[in-house]
Amino acid sequence: MKILGLSCSPRKSGNTEILVGEALNGAQKEGAEVELFSLSGKEIKPCDGCYTCLKTGKCHINDDMQAVYQKLIEADGIIFGTPIYFYSMTSQAKALIDRTLALRLPGIRLANKVGGVIAVAGALGIIDAIKDLYFYIAINHMVPADYVAAYASKKGAIRKNERDMKAAWELGREMVQLVSKGFEFPSEFERGLTAYVADKYKL
Ligand SMILES: Cc1cc2nc3c(=O)[nH]c(=O)nc-3n(C[C@H](O)[C@H](O)[C@H](O)COP(=O)(O)O)c2cc1C
Repeated sequence: MKILGLSCSPRKSGNTEILVGEALNGAQKEGAEVELFSLSGKEIKPCDGCYTCLKTGKCHINDDMQAVYQKLIEADGIIFGTPIYFYSMTSQAKALIDRTLALRLPGIRLANKVGGVIAVAGALGIIDAIKDLYFYIAINHMVPADYVAAYASKKGAIRKNERDMKAAWELGREMVQLVSKGFEFPSEFERGLTAYVADKYKL
């Protein structure tokens, strides 16, 4: 079983990376193989809306996202970690999820994976990012695990917040147990209802 942790902060070794790492420690303790992928220093360009991926299943933009696609496909559970930037997820997180349009053909390739969310804010505006990521989990027919809403500002300060560190650890363990349950979304709906939009506009 593989659990992938995505840290969508541009700040290297920051609070998001620490919490996602702690969740992965919990998952590893529970028996999973784990991998942390930090977007810090990586180039993930925004989706350019060409829609060719809906025909080919591949994104034509050649950057660090190409490595992420493979990791997402291979994972049984995915943790989406983001700091809060102006009451929202980071632009790095948004670019990454937009680029996963390429994983909606053939079928929804993220379906049946367990999704967890970790968001870190200095003080305010955490819930919208969590809701947005949960909605993303839902439309990909993934299984939602719990979320961690954590608070810290200075780099590394989250380590002192025992409650949030514990919550992250428990999220990792929980995800392993959820994956073990073997959820399967009914295959009758494997294209997802948004596919009808693509049909309508002949994309
Ligand atoms: C551009 C920018 C915008 C931010 N906006 C918010 C915000 O709206 N609310 C908040 O509570 N903290 C905000 N913060 C603080 C970060 O969420 C906080 O420092 C967090 O711990 C950063 O996580 P990281 O160490 O993983 O990068 C902002 C930080 C930056 C750099």
